[in-house]
Amino acid sequence: MENTESKNRNLNKAKNAKFDEFYTQYFDIEQEVNAYLDFDKDTFRGKTILLPCDDPEWSNFTKYFAQSFERLGLKKLISTSYAPESKNVKFDYEPTLFETSDPQFDSDKTKTNGKIFTLTRDKNQNGRIDIYDLEWEYLQGDGDFRSEEIIKLRDEADMIITNPPFSLFREFLAWIVEAEKQFLIIGSMNAITYKEVFPLLKNNEMWLGVHSGAKEYIKSDGEIQKMGNTAWFTNLDHGRRHKPLILMTMADNIRYSKHKEIRGIGYKKYDNYDAIEVPYTIAIPDDYEGVMGVPISFLDKYCPEQFEILGSNRGVDQDPNGVYGRGSLINGKEVFKRIFIKKKQQ
Ligand SMILES: C[S@@+](CC[C@H](N)C(=O)[O-])C[C@H]1O[C@@H](n2cnc3c(N)ncnc32)[C@H](O)[C@@H]1O
Repeated sequence: MENTESKNRNLNKAKNAKFDEFYTQYFDIEQEVNAYLDFDKDTFRGKTILLPCDDPEWSNFTKYFAQSFERLGLKKLISTSYAPESKNVKFDYEPTLFETSDPQFDSDKTKTNGKIFTLTRDKNQNGRIDIYDLEWEYLQGDGDFRSEEIIKLRDEADMIITNPPFSLFREFLAWIVEAEKQFLIIGSMNAITYKEVFPLLKNNEMWLGVHSGAKEYIKSDGEIQKMGNTAWFTNLDHGRRHKPLILMTMADNIRYSKHKEIRGIGYKKYDNYDAIEVPYTIAIPDDYEGVMGVPISFLDKYCPEQFEILGSNRGVDQDPNGVYGRGSLINGKEVFKRIFIKKKQQ
């Protein structure tokens, strides 16, 4: 019999599959990358970067990193694309003029094979390395990131950067983590409480990026796709995560909080464990020493020097001690999606 976890998983998979084919805007990539450079201008210097779900004709990741090759001091850029016939989302595929006008164009392979683009040198000898110096060929296979061919490229790379197919997010993240690579990828905020994802956040092996995920992406027909719930996931260090949140004391929150659930009332306690419910990140009392349940959006503001993460209420497997994972109740009513945190002992 299918258990709830795998039922939910299949449901999510179906829902996510339609988001497998949408594209990130140049500005969103540039803005996020700049924030890592602000923190350490050499973040990308001397690195080999693999963009494993990125066809340059579509992907702004390829465009951005090719155009920034020299400024970032990259050693090598590799961008691989997935064969049109293997894609989850079918659409009328037409190869571009760039491809059809190339002597190596193959009218079968263009549909059934992936492609690899590499950038290492000033091929056209115009004095700068940029997108016009990309060299390409067909891959042996369809470019599936799980194939031997792409695994080899992953192993060669220092960093994996992309917006991967949402329906394969867990697998994609595990694929990066098992190879112990640096990464910067986009995913759904919902992924935070997946059992494969949450432990990495809890153990500070992964964190959210500097900016919240983009609100708009581009669909394959060129139309805008609004997405309210995406995030950057990374293990590249950045400045925002080392800035503690400025918060009020519990007494001041009760006196002045802008949230009516707290002002003049205070904080509720959970029925099933010794922790207080904090429904808004900004209402975390900075002098409370005990455990607090906070919304998952807290992770956007999480500073590991200020708080430690103890668990989440989204499943026992996320919570080895079995304290929080079984769900949270207040006056018998379930409180959804909370992360449990505690002030870090100095
Ligand atoms: C969400 S889109 C993002 C595309 C691009 N990275 C961007 O941000 O503009 C994910 C891409 O991954 C490709 N893809 C789907 N399954 C894949 C797989 N198993 N291996 C590699 N790429 C895959 C899709 O065809 C799609 O182009």
